[in-house]
Amino acid sequence: MELNLKGTGLTSTLRCSLKCKLCCTFSPYYDPAPHFHSKYIEKEIVKYFEIVNHVEKFTISGGEPFLHEELYLIVDKISLYFGQIGVLEIITNGTIYPSDELIRVLIKYKDKMTIMIDDYGALSNKITNIRSLFDEKGIDYRVRNYNGDNLHCGGWVDFRDLSRKHFSNEEIQTKYEKCAYPGKLQFCFSIMNGEIHPCIPSRRCMELGIIAKNKEEYIDLFDGSISIEEQKQKFYNILNGKSLTACAYCNGLCDDSERFVPAEQL
Ligand SMILES: C[S@@+](CC[C@H](N)C(=O)[O-])C[C@H]1O[C@@H](n2cnc3c(N)ncnc32)[C@H](O)[C@@H]1O
Ligand code: SF4
Ligand code: SF4
Repeated sequence: MELNLKGTGLTSTLRCSLKCKLCCTFSPYYDPAPHFHSKYIEKEIVKYFEIVNHVEKFTISGGEPFLHEELYLIVDKISLYFGQIGVLEIITNGTIYPSDELIRVLIKYKDKMTIMIDDYGALSNKITNIRSLFDEKGIDYRVRNYNGDNLHCGGWVDFRDLSRKHFSNEEIQTKYEKCAYPGKLQFCFSIMNGEIHPCIPSRRCMELGIIAKNKEEYIDLFDGSISIEEQKQKFYNILNGKSLTACAYCNGLCDDSERFVPAEQL
């Protein structure tokens, strides 16, 4: 059975140089923030590409990935699977100038990579230098506007309230159907801690014990008791589901979700 995905995010670290109140990965709310050794991440990458045949966009995210001192090793490892990846993206907040080792791999793999620089205005205080570097070295990048007018997607969504808010099956399914994650994004499968969750609110609800850890609703990459085919089937079951347990507790990412000023600091 072939498993082709639209996108997957890899959490390299939840440490960050900023403390955004509405951070969708809840990075400022961990103490200490999870940080993953490159050797551990390499094992996640091997397992992931045993299960997933092809992913259109594989994204290294965080936290702030440019804070990960071994990001270059992670990129090197992912490069072994370029045949299974459309494009490798790194998302950064424009506050950290890349290390020499990272610059070396960004140049080496520039035909297959792109950097998404989120522009949080004055907070993203290294953007000009980073852009000059990327222009000079021919590294592909895009700047996403998250300050002033014309905010990308109209601004951010507030995922913090995870109290129960939808009750009937119909209400829960309606939320799911309106949410962009299972909809147009085909989920933002997120790898962290050896697990792949279909969206971050679902992971967060399980992490906080708001809902029980339900093995049907995430993939345990290191579960040796099930076969690769069964792991693929779990992805299919999630992709073909009608809702997640967490949808009852979540505002979702919907066209009509209220939008907020991005990157307001705690
Ligand atoms: C969690 S951040 C990690 C990468 C990096 N630290 C950054 O902020 O660019 C990943 C993406 O999620 C976006 N994001 C964070 N919180 C959000 C929210 N509440 N609503 C919508 N997008 C959000 C960020 O703008 C960024 O593009
Ligand atoms: S920059 Fe803001 S949105 Fe990005 S991970 Fe850090 S706290 Fe979260
Ligand atoms: S838990 Fe929230 S973000 Fe995830 S699919 Fe449901 S409504 Fe969307």
